[in-house]
Amino acid sequence: MKLYPLFLLPTASAFAPTAFLRRQHTSLDASVGIVFGTSTGSTEEVADAIASRINEVLGSGSCDPPICVDNVVGTLSSTFSTYSSVICGTPTWNTGAETERSGTAWDEVYYGEMGDLKLEGKKVAVFGLGDQESYGENYADASGELYDVLQSLGVKSFGETTVDDSYVHEESKAQRGDKFVGLLCDQANQDDLTPGRVERWVDQLVAEGFFADGAGTAETQQADGDVEVVGRDKITVEVLKEVEEAPSSPVSFDATWKGYRNEKKGSTLWVNQENRVESYTTQN
Ligand SMILES: Cc1cc2nc3c(=O)[nH]c(=O)nc-3n(C[C@H](O)[C@H](O)[C@H](O)COP(=O)(O)O)c2cc1C
Repeated sequence: MKLYPLFLLPTASAFAPTAFLRRQHTSLDASVGIVFGTSTGSTEEVADAIASRINEVLGSGSCDPPICVDNVVGTLSSTFSTYSSVICGTPTWNTGAETERSGTAWDEVYYGEMGDLKLEGKKVAVFGLGDQESYGENYADASGELYDVLQSLGVKSFGETTVDDSYVHEESKAQRGDKFVGLLCDQANQDDLTPGRVERWVDQLVAEGFFADGAGTAETQQADGDVEVVGRDKITVEVLKEVEEAPSSPVSFDATWKGYRNEKKGSTLWVNQENRVESYTTQN
């Protein structure tokens, strides 16, 4: 007789007792799109890295290939409505102006076509590129404008990040207090930090529920901040019942699970690390 564990119980007392709230083939079936602007290709590189990471975490095909905003001017409405979660990215170009400094087609649509978009409640996250060494007083300013335009349209924003010591800029319109409005990268000076930043950011978006069906919460923080990432070693698999057939539930109990702790909600989102598709939430 083969044994199939029916329940996973976290051993750490902080997480007990545990009850399943839902099991699903994720929350991660929502459609995800990336729209970016670029002049010299760096923002596209980061957009591609984000898409790759999403597909790695959520399963191949979860994220469509990134779309250059220049190619969808005039049809932005249908582009945004295709996706339940949209990631928008931009570089910054110093023109001496306060606004419209992406140097891309974003500047053409911010105060025209975008004003007609129906984005109330749409899940959106922002990323941006800049050069902290050469433009330290205006690092990634245009990401702040992109964020503000989207906010003015009533989107639900995800993916704000904590400004940590790895950033050496002096000022940025994309910085609000100790937070950036999204993921900021610097391919000119810190391209070696980009893969780690992208990885942590996508993991954060998962934890915030950005990819989930429904509205998500955006309440969790970066993994190196308030989120407690719990590994397999803190879980025990308890065999509560012996069965001859595999349970009909899609959840693979013998897989390795990674937990994303949301302290505010008092819940943990568990993602199957082998197929990165299955997930469930425990409340305690
Ligand atoms: C003329 C010029 C002006 C720039 N102005 C800024 C700026 O104001 N702030 C900033 O953070 N980066 C600035 N940058 C750096 C670019 O944002 C950075 O190189 C970015 O990676 C370009 O992205 P892209 O290749 O997608 O166009 C500037 C670069 C150039 C060449």
